[in-house]
Parts: sequence; C-alpha cells; structure tokens
Amino acid sequence: MGESKKSRRQAMLLDSPWSEYDQMLEQRLSKKRYKHSLAVMERAIELARRFGADEEKAKLAGLLHDVMKDTEDKILLQFIEDSDILLTYADRAAPQLWHAIGAAVFLQKRLGIVDEDVLAAVRYHTTGRAGMSLLEKVVYLADLTSSDRDYGDVAKTRRIVDRDLDQGMLYSMKFLIGDLVARGRLLHPDTLACYDELVRAGVQIS
Ligand SMILES: [Fe+2]
Ligand SMILES: [Fe+2]
Repeated sequence: MGESKKSRRQAMLLDSPWSEYDQMLEQRLSKKRYKHSLAVMERAIELARRFGADEEKAKLAGLLHDVMKDTEDKILLQFIEDSDILLTYADRAAPQLWHAIGAAVFLQKRLGIVDEDVLAAVRYHTTGRAGMSLLEKVVYLADLTSSDRDYGDVAKTRRIVDRDLDQGMLYSMKFLIGDLVARGRLLHPDTLACYDELVRAGVQIS
C-alpha cells in the first residue's frame, strides 16, 4: 500500500468512535482481512457518493461488515444464538453467512449501533436479499469490488457497478450463483430472491 493511501485511510479514522473501531478491527482480524475492511470502507464511501447514499452509514457498514470474519464457527453460532435472532434451516446450512449475521448482532449489542439500514447492510452483505436498500447494495457491491479484490472478473464487475448498482447486483448474482452451482454448494433463499427480483424488474446488463 502506498504511503498516501495509507495516510488518507488513517486520516479517515482519527476521531472517536472511528479510531476505536479501527483498533478493534486490527486486533480481531488477520492483517489481510483488516486491510480488506479498510478497502471496503473506502469503496463504500465512493459508491455512496456516486449514487447518493448516506456516506457516513456506508463508511460504518463498510468498515465493520467483516468484524466477525475471523471468529471461529462454534463461537460465532453461540454468539448468534445468545441474541434474539432465530436462524432458519437455510441459515444454519450456510456457515459462510454466519459472520454476517454475527456482525450485525455485534454492531447492535456491543457497539450500540441502532440504525436499521446499517445493520441490514452488514447482515445481508454475503447473500443479498429481495428489497435491498440503496445502502445495502452499496455495501454489498463495495465488498465485491474493493481495491484489494483480485478475482478474474473484478475489473468488469467494477465497471458495471460504477455505471449502475442494479446492473452490478445482477452481474454479481449471476457470477456468484454460477460459481456456487459449479462448486456444488447450496444457494441461500435470500440470494435467489435477490436474483429473481432483479430479473423480474427487467434489469439488463448494458
Ligand atoms: Fe463478509
Ligand atoms: Fe468482506
């Protein structure tokens, strides 16, 4: 990471509560995941600005979306079960989703964050869902197109996302669902509902 990029990030996290969040993430996450969190924060702010979402909320949800990503499954599951969230059968069958649900619980219970839109953006950042808000789409797509991402299709995904969030959602859904099917993995109902809604709305990738 270049010095200017680094200092720009540091400047964004100087004041309370950002500096506390920053320290907490650095402690809880691997170096790679910590850098990813900062990159998603930056990308979320950029997309929020571009598409008129709330930049502070995008910053918050982007920074904290993976706060539970390096927590052990067993501990994560217990943490969720100790909250008032009831897991569906499909949720239980998708361990990759637990860190998102757990993070939303963490934000609410440990950090006292009450904004429903921020909590939903964190909660649905792995599956998507039908009826996503502007902020939810911004965070979902920031996670997939942050500067640290390097999967084969990332440049094209970024281009589409920069043009249109719904097209970006559809393109990502097609890519992710195709990948899950190819690997014989389960599809979460929220992901299918997200995809269906985009298709039903007539979204087309131009
Ligand atoms: Fe995640
Ligand atoms: Fe992430």
